[in-house]
Amino acid sequence: MSEFDMLVQRIKTCTECALSQGRTQAVPGEGSPTADIMFIGEGPGYYEDRDGRPFIGRAGNVLTGLLNGIGLRREDVYITNMVKCRPPNNRDPMPEELSACSGFMDAQIEMIKPKVIVTLGRFSFGKFFPGESITRARGKPRRWRGLTVYPMYHPAAVLHNPNLRSALEGDFRRLPELIEEAAHSSPAGPGPEPADVPLVKEPAKARQLNMF
Ligand code: URA
Repeated sequence: MSEFDMLVQRIKTCTECALSQGRTQAVPGEGSPTADIMFIGEGPGYYEDRDGRPFIGRAGNVLTGLLNGIGLRREDVYITNMVKCRPPNNRDPMPEELSACSGFMDAQIEMIKPKVIVTLGRFSFGKFFPGESITRARGKPRRWRGLTVYPMYHPAAVLHNPNLRSALEGDFRRLPELIEEAAHSSPAGPGPEPADVPLVKEPAKARQLNMF
């Protein structure tokens, strides 16, 4: 069994936090284990918990549509979540649940070695840039440990507020160019932490939305 498959097995059998008690099954992630782009959401919902696959409900349809819109298929990228088990009634993941699962997220990043990580919503954004406002940060790619982290709104935000769709679509349209840029920048590796400087100047006007 490959190291990656062993990680998937560990996620599927994890009992580190209370979310494991309420799950139908864990949702490790889906896509290419050698993907250049990794999408990180929040946590599985009803359908994800039922089928063991990430982003297959309504928010997932938005994500799949946005991917297809820039010529990518789900199989071309890797899609996962901050917590791998469904929080009851889709509540926000709690700090202890996020921290119990964070080793899995780190291991997935380490093994997949994506060039660009897209954070979807505030929980995955908070892993990389804790305490910052997603509203201000979205659409601005940043460096983090030799990787490009590109914060975006959560696709579910579009379902609650259709006005956000154009911002999310615009952020997606820049992805191919970011992959290209990241391919030519220095790879991740040991050494001092690079400053988390924005790669671009102020993008389109930030909108007020605290939920996502
Ligand atoms: N489905 C997921 O897999 N993750 C989310 O964050 C939302 C829906």
